Amino acid sequence: MDPLQWAIDPWGKIVPIHIAWFLIWVAGIAGLLFVIVHAIFVRYFAKPRQFERDAAPVVPAQIPEHVPRHSLTARAFHWIMAASMFTLLFTAFLPKLGFQFDWVTYHWIAGSVLTVSILFHIIHASFFMDFWSIWPDRIDLRDAWRRILRFVGKPAPPPERFAKYPLENKLYHGAIIAAGLSSIVTGVFMMFRVRTIFFPRNPYLFSDLTWGMMYVLHGLAGVGLIALIMVHVYFGIRPEKRPITKSMIFGWMSRDFYLEEHDPNRWAVEISSPSRESAGTRDED
Ligand code: HEM
Repeated sequence: MDPLQWAIDPWGKIVPIHIAWFLIWVAGIAGLLFVIVHAIFVRYFAKPRQFERDAAPVVPAQIPEHVPRHSLTARAFHWIMAASMFTLLFTAFLPKLGFQFDWVTYHWIAGSVLTVSILFHIIHASFFMDFWSIWPDRIDLRDAWRRILRFVGKPAPPPERFAKYPLENKLYHGAIIAAGLSSIVTGVFMMFRVRTIFFPRNPYLFSDLTWGMMYVLHGLAGVGLIALIMVHVYFGIRPEKRPITKSMIFGWMSRDFYLEEHDPNRWAVEISSPSRESAGTRDED
């Protein structure tokens, strides 16, 4: 089973042209398997989570009842990106599964929306948000090791509670960057192969081999995103993660959830003042 489709160029050379479309099923089944295995593990085998005691515990009453987590701008970005991502997935893969429609126009329009929103996000996250909050730090790595040791039954102290984002979320963000940027960079060039409002069509911009590799990378990133998005939606609807999903809608999470899962020394929130409690979030939040 060849994962790529090939063709012969005008000079008789064999070049790749697309991924083989059975990879759509491979990605879908891989995503589904992950979901099933994870759900069974959590339901029947996982032990309750334990965190290390705080060296300097905070007074709960000092934490606002609604802890600001995502600013309105960050939430708007997330949902615009989600809408364009779903549009891209459905317009790309439904025709390959037999539902024929004129997909290319909807696809490049959604691709342009995603590209602009990601450019905006990079600027917003670099200059107006806490840029480092989404990258793994030393404590994350130490705690990952502690969690592995405890999982295999070796003695190790419990991990600390999380900063703003748990390590799993940070790793997921990294995978989305790799797949997302690959599909965006190749997608922008592939717009030269079709008619758009941005630039004149020029299918001779690259050699057949380069175009072929570009289509293959675009396809691989695309099927990778099928599995990644399935896993993301699954975690978003799991009961214990719902407070996080709600915070992506309303902008805040409850004080109880914050104190249970997050370490105020690693992710500090403003000390409460009653008039500001539900005032929403600033971008650095
Ligand atoms: C979730 C992200 C995306 C997925 C899953 C996806 C998927 C796909 C797939 C499977 C194809 C067919 C490739 C082939 O025939 O080998 C395709 C084509 C294409 N995509 Fe995407 N894509 C995504 C993002 C983007 C973005 C961000 C852009 C533009 C900025 C874009 C623009 C295009 C264009 C112009 C084509 C070529 C259509 C043609 O030559 O007929 N895509 N995409």
